[in-house]
Amino acid sequence: MARLDTVLGQIIKDRIRSKGPMTIQEYMATCLYDSRYGFYSQGPNIGSVDGPFDTNAKFSAFAFAITKAVKQADQLLGNTIRVVELGGGTGELGKSVLRFLENDRNYMVVDPSSGLRVKQDQVGLQAVGDLTEITPAPTFLFGNEILDALPVHKVMGTEQGEILEFFVDLDEAGEFFEIPLAPSTPALLARLQSLNVTLGRGQVGEICLELSSLFQKVKQVVEPGYVVFVDYGDSASKLYSFQRRNGTLRSYYRQHQIHDIFYAPGEQDLTADVDFTTVRREAQAVGLVGGTPVSQETWLKNLGIQEYIDPENICARDVEEIECLTKSSQLGSAFDVLIFKTIGLPEGPGG
Ligand SMILES: C[S@@+](CC[C@H](N)C(=O)[O-])C[C@H]1O[C@@H](n2cnc3c(N)ncnc32)[C@H](O)[C@@H]1O
Repeated sequence: MARLDTVLGQIIKDRIRSKGPMTIQEYMATCLYDSRYGFYSQGPNIGSVDGPFDTNAKFSAFAFAITKAVKQADQLLGNTIRVVELGGGTGELGKSVLRFLENDRNYMVVDPSSGLRVKQDQVGLQAVGDLTEITPAPTFLFGNEILDALPVHKVMGTEQGEILEFFVDLDEAGEFFEIPLAPSTPALLARLQSLNVTLGRGQVGEICLELSSLFQKVKQVVEPGYVVFVDYGDSASKLYSFQRRNGTLRSYYRQHQIHDIFYAPGEQDLTADVDFTTVRREAQAVGLVGGTPVSQETWLKNLGIQEYIDPENICARDVEEIECLTKSSQLGSAFDVLIFKTIGLPEGPGG
């Protein structure tokens, strides 16, 4: 498929010409979050019919379940707590959750993407760009598919048991290509060593270094409370296994998965499976407890998603929504849920 000539693609090429190759992490961060032309900064219709991909967020039943989690967290904390949604997308999910909560709740969205914040604002949500803009308070914080949208470094094992890192460079025709070079930071090998992972020769894997700072900020805000992440991913031992030897970094363009991460910079989504082992470690490092992944199916059923269906007036669409969210052949096993709590609280909602 011939690559598209995008404005952001030209900007990145100019940067490489003047400063040399950039890491995949920098490329991904620019493609997704460049303040003007980044995929998310432009405010895509995530989850809509014409959007780049489906998410839980488009299902009202999912918002209902989040509402149940918020109410259960209230009871566990003995307080009416604030809700913070990380990565609010188009704001549809937040709007539905607030509607189920009868608009009677302090609900904040945190999203670095200006175009999406505009959409969140348009549906009546209060949105800020960074967690540091929020003061500490008793909180239920959740994020649906935000961890998979954090930029990752891409590395490859060598014969000597070390790693090289992939950089983005330009060939003679001025086209993007990936080149393995010495790692940009020793933190990459250190991460793999801390996980007891040795990548085989030629084996590829992604590493997200942003998780540490994210959890430090989360801990500053959730005082006390619960933190819930819904995402696709796996334990480090499975993620860095031979079965995934080509890594998990992938791209979506208009609902279709495409292999070329250089197809349309700024117009395609880039994403990678989440390393749940590191997520738990970084959460624990800031004093959060828990985080054993449970399937979305189990979590939603534990919360009581079935109550979304009105027994007096069973509607086929409601039944379909629940099936889509919980069936293991659909989204039910595609996503896992990691539930954390601050020290001293009872087990989190649905856990
Ligand atoms: C895959 S989209 C998911 C959006 C929405 N939660 C949904 O399910 O439709 C990823 C979202 O995470 C946001 N995001 C990326 N990095 C973030 C961060 N560090 N803090 C909060 N949100 C972030 C993006 O701007 C985007 O809104």
